[in-house]
Amino acid sequence: MKARFLMMLVIVGALLSLVSGAVVAQDETVTGDLEVFSWWTSGGEAAALDALFAAMNASYPNVNIVNATVAGGGGSAARPVLQTRLAGGDPPDSWQVHPGWELFGQYVEPGYVAPVNDIYESEGWNDVVPEQLREMMSRDGNIYLVLAGVHRGNGFWYNKKVLDEQGITLGEALSVDEFFAIADQLQAADITPLCVGDSGIWATAQLLENTLLGVLGPEGYRGLWDGSVSFNSDEVKAAIAVYGRMLDYQNSDHSALSWDQAVDALMEGRCVFNSMGDWAYGEFVAAGKEDNVDFGWVSHPGSEGSFMVVADGFPMAAGAPNPAAAAGWLKAIGSVEAQEAFNPLKGSICARTDCNRESFGPYHNWAMDSFGSGELVATVVHGTAAPADFQQAMNDAVTLFVVDRDVDALAAALAEAAVSAGFASE
Ligand code: GAL
Repeated sequence: MKARFLMMLVIVGALLSLVSGAVVAQDETVTGDLEVFSWWTSGGEAAALDALFAAMNASYPNVNIVNATVAGGGGSAARPVLQTRLAGGDPPDSWQVHPGWELFGQYVEPGYVAPVNDIYESEGWNDVVPEQLREMMSRDGNIYLVLAGVHRGNGFWYNKKVLDEQGITLGEALSVDEFFAIADQLQAADITPLCVGDSGIWATAQLLENTLLGVLGPEGYRGLWDGSVSFNSDEVKAAIAVYGRMLDYQNSDHSALSWDQAVDALMEGRCVFNSMGDWAYGEFVAAGKEDNVDFGWVSHPGSEGSFMVVADGFPMAAGAPNPAAAAGWLKAIGSVEAQEAFNPLKGSICARTDCNRESFGPYHNWAMDSFGSGELVATVVHGTAAPADFQQAMNDAVTLFVVDRDVDALAAALAEAAVSAGFASE
């Protein structure tokens, strides 16, 4: 089994060199174990993670990778396990982190990670990693993360065959009203319009986040995080009402399904649309589905023109058990070869501007255009826009809302959480 896995890594490594047209430089002097901690366990996530491991192995053949994962989309189960290890002085060499509040609040401030400025310099990344991304990972002149890819959080995926059968064709964008008209048409044909898998509550919080963006627009959405738009305002309540109305169209077994099982339900035609970041794309790829044939996508209703940034990065642990292997890992995953192998499987786009667009299919090219020309906004559900306490309060309030649909109560709970987290005054 192990031999087969190693053989696969060698083949993937060779393919990587072929695709990139370059032979990846090898460093045989780095040895020992490298522990990488993440929550990438779904079909698409695990396949993509293997591509990063293959890139690592191609450059550092004498390092033994220890794949430490804690299942559960969005990392809600993984982060507490990690915190316990970090607090106990038992860090993995590197682990999955989102930029922004999550990086600074949970890892930089407690001193769990070390700056990686030297790696950015030696690898020339200050010239190829977009500045907006570098800013989200930097403080006081130090940069703390290496990104493997950048997800677009505000995707609205659909089963194309089911829509075709119903004579429904979507244009470039979908408005909130258009969505409800289609949802009514589907429901009249006895088809469940919306696929949700919120056994991990973050997945329905993502639906709310995307709806806030779609209804408020990028400027209004940003205002939520700098305190200039109140969660108690009429606009926010209108957005929450739209979210509640969308829930009326969801599958009845939503709370029994994980996010990826909801994508499976979409593929099987048990329901039609799914509001999800483009890690959903990784599930389509893992299932052998084809862009624009089996599935299609638009922006979450009303959010066209915006790109909800959900970036995946890895830091260097302060006191990493194997610092040489950890540095090698960061160099490997930030390379163009690794990013061209990983991102087609993961659904994200490269975190650098020099990836070859031809290595990517229709969805990725669309997402790259969206990143290049769209309004970039930060995700709260995946830790970037607000502190962890707010994220937790939002998950708790959404858990109640899914059952009671009380718009005023959700608005009030979010407003209160924003005040206690310190980014709003009312
Ligand atoms: C996000 C992460 C993605 C994807 C998703 C679902 O937090 O950034 O890469 O894994 O969770 O698990």
